[in-house]
Amino acid sequence: MIREHTDFLVIGSGVAGLRAAIELSSAGRVTVITKDVATESSTEYAQGGIAVALSDEDEVGIHYEDTLRAGDGLCREEAVKALVEEGPERILELISWGAEFDTEAGKKQKLAFGLEAAHSRKRILHAGGDSTGKELERVLINKVKTISSIKRLPFTLAQDLIVEDGVCYGAIVVSERRPVAVFARATVLATGGLGQIYSITTNPQVATGDGYAAAYRAGAALEDMEFVQFHPTSLYLPSAPHFLLTEALRGEGGKLLNVNLKPFMAGYHPDMELAPRDVVSRAIFTEMGRTGADHVYLDLRDMGEDFVKRRFPRVFSTCLKYGFDITRQPIPVCPAAHYMMGGVKTDVTGHTNVKGLFAAGEAACTGVHGANRLASNSLLEGLVYGKRTGQSAADDALRSEDVLKKQKTFFPPPAHPHSIPAHDEIRGDLRRLMWQNAGILRNEDSLIDAEKKLGRWRYITESSFLSRREIELKNMIDISALIIRAARLRKNSVGAHFRSDYPQKTGDWQRHITFVKE
Ligand code: FAD
Ligand code: SIN
Repeated sequence: MIREHTDFLVIGSGVAGLRAAIELSSAGRVTVITKDVATESSTEYAQGGIAVALSDEDEVGIHYEDTLRAGDGLCREEAVKALVEEGPERILELISWGAEFDTEAGKKQKLAFGLEAAHSRKRILHAGGDSTGKELERVLINKVKTISSIKRLPFTLAQDLIVEDGVCYGAIVVSERRPVAVFARATVLATGGLGQIYSITTNPQVATGDGYAAAYRAGAALEDMEFVQFHPTSLYLPSAPHFLLTEALRGEGGKLLNVNLKPFMAGYHPDMELAPRDVVSRAIFTEMGRTGADHVYLDLRDMGEDFVKRRFPRVFSTCLKYGFDITRQPIPVCPAAHYMMGGVKTDVTGHTNVKGLFAAGEAACTGVHGANRLASNSLLEGLVYGKRTGQSAADDALRSEDVLKKQKTFFPPPAHPHSIPAHDEIRGDLRRLMWQNAGILRNEDSLIDAEKKLGRWRYITESSFLSRREIELKNMIDISALIIRAARLRKNSVGAHFRSDYPQKTGDWQRHITFVKE
């Protein structure tokens, strides 16, 4: 096996990976790998914006309280404090690197702040109306390009971590179907989320949970795996992908109607369309069941054509491409898997329990989101914790001599790459199973059934592969099993985890569920 060496290996080129790489770049050579083109990430598709307490009417303390409230009692307060306190500085830094956020009409210097569900203040910065993530990727990639110590390797997939005696020395990566051992003094996992394990998701194809699976196999602790967030509104058209219809549409006055065109949110929560995300998703799901429909509608017709086109140009043009003029027709929508609150357990500086291994962004679980993430806090998390993690990976990296020694004595695992017949069919079956049995509503029977069915595919998780689709499928099966296990263990309903057989927030609901591979 080819062996390569770098000081710092960053896996993933979304907001968290890029921000960590920038921080690491003054401490040595950084290699950023990503399994697709550099921009392909959830970050690139983020729409609504980035939450930050920077407006005249806002305060860091109010952002803190809103985040805790949305997290439904399970946020780590220390992690939230770091997020909201350091957020403003990270945003101003990004602006100094060239980020252009939208400003108020006619006032070029005054940032425009939007409102989203469960925020008690207007605090969402946005760019290009509804293309905030694209702007973040643009600015961070441009910044990385100016730093000569950062090397970027697209189409390079991390297969597994190199771990011996509880120390991580880098990763086995696959590039053009060839395995390469990349040794590093510190490895940062910034591989994003896992939405693709569900058949209905807003997430891009790359979000297959590879980082969680590789970290687990390497002995890292995973926490809160039952907390998967479902976004209330994705486009529902049989022939179209589940394109996200941003929360900001409801923040600007968009209304939810059932299939009979009747408003229904007042029957579910006093904050109606602006109730926390998990509440709105469950309300839509329940209303769909009650009316026997597979969607509801999001109605923007009262907003005014010019406003909609100016404020939400991407949503407008995408829906038009699928034959919908959102200024004139209510849009068919349904909830979709969107975000993972759980993940690789870290402290507030990105350390995992494995020496030399760090994690940031959606791959990590700092506890900042608790049981339910407040809208638009994730991009901010990527910036704040990307920097924090880069800093601690530089400070607590392994000694070069130790890594070089390991590089000489390392015996790669025997490679007997397999191929799975009909693996894309299995992927489809898995995704539907997770949606039906471990989705917005779960119960003991649905989870046991899913567990049994997953057992059929255990042979896949015990094999090794060199093709991206097969490596991803193995990871998807591994993490689905962990989600189901955590969801069975949590016999109560908190935040995004709702058990129809235990609908109350009772018993030992305050505990966190942590898994470490034996
Ligand atoms: P990502 O941006 O997902 O990046 C992960 C990177 O890891 C990618 O480069 C990927 O290719 C790479 N990768 C994955 N596996 C491997 C592997 N095995 N080997 C190598 N590379 C790998 N949040 C907000 O705060 N505001 C919003 O408005 C918002 N809108 C959203 C809209 C959509 C459609 C989606 C899907 C999410 C949205 N979110 C939003 C959530 C937010 O975008 C993500 O949580 C955040 O961008 C995650 O950043 P990240 O850097 O952790 O991961
Ligand atoms: C959205 O724009 O609705 C997504 C915001 C988020 O996921 O935080």
